[in-house]
Amino acid sequence: MKRILIAGAGGQIGTELTTHLRKIYGPENVIAADLRDCPTLAYDGPFEILNVLDREAYAALVRGYNVDTIFNLVAVLSATGEKNPQGAWNINMGALMNSLEIAREYGCALFTPSSIGAFGGDFPRDNTPQDVVMQPDTIYGVCKVTGELLGNYYHSRFGVDTRSVRFPGIISNVTMPGGGTTDYAVEIFYEAVSKGHYTCPVPADVYMDMMYMPDALKAIVDLMEADPQRLRHRNSFNVTAMSFTPEIIAAEIRKHIPEFTMDYAVDPVKEQISRSWPNKLDDTCAREEWGWSPDWDLASMVEDMLRAVRAKLGKDQ
Ligand code: SER
Repeated sequence: MKRILIAGAGGQIGTELTTHLRKIYGPENVIAADLRDCPTLAYDGPFEILNVLDREAYAALVRGYNVDTIFNLVAVLSATGEKNPQGAWNINMGALMNSLEIAREYGCALFTPSSIGAFGGDFPRDNTPQDVVMQPDTIYGVCKVTGELLGNYYHSRFGVDTRSVRFPGIISNVTMPGGGTTDYAVEIFYEAVSKGHYTCPVPADVYMDMMYMPDALKAIVDLMEADPQRLRHRNSFNVTAMSFTPEIIAAEIRKHIPEFTMDYAVDPVKEQISRSWPNKLDDTCAREEWGWSPDWDLASMVEDMLRAVRAKLGKDQ
């Protein structure tokens, strides 16, 4: 990776990935692009307004900056996707197809995240294997499975260096996630710090895989820097760092804020989606093929999130 383009850089992962990659590869070598203006991303490196569905404009950026690696982070997430499935398909697949074609034409490596949302149907919920039948019943999941297959196809058919991980819910404190089923695990911190109370839209007993942002950034860089000879899989690797229910994370927060309370107003769409996903992924293949190993567990993540959110909300005095 020498000249990097991040499409969808204004989102939850993109904002922090841009900063992270600029530290590693130099600010001038990491071009952030988003549909909307993002002054913070333009502050210390190149930023461009880009509608990824406009293939000509997308290709012109890749040509103009001599890009060799693309991160396609454009996504309509699971819960929002169900409100407008056709629109979600058009955006998710349009962004992916343009990224694949441009990567093929200009010889770029391409990273597109997949997700725990790619799973669905009848599969082992506990220690969900890397290779298993995937029959998601959300449009988000359908897009992710299609994306995994297309990524592998572009690699075997055209030799494009496509790589991907199946991200769990990503917990972070810089940019809020938007429209996902795992978003509760971020919202809970802001509500706990500002109000001491959270009303959770996901049922108390549902386990989902989660990961703290520093581990997500590490996974992206380590996979993209991995020796291709060692990769038996490409699109896409199971990765996880922790798995918990709303009750478990609330109990962990209570160790720091004993008066914190939580009740439930379960969203039926989020309930159906969350119960169709794995409880806990088996990420052995990622560990074996490119040395994946997370640094953050539930206890260390909660402590750090509370510190960061308190500071952000001016409640750290
Ligand atoms: N965070 C995503 C969602 O909840 C899953 O990848 O939709």
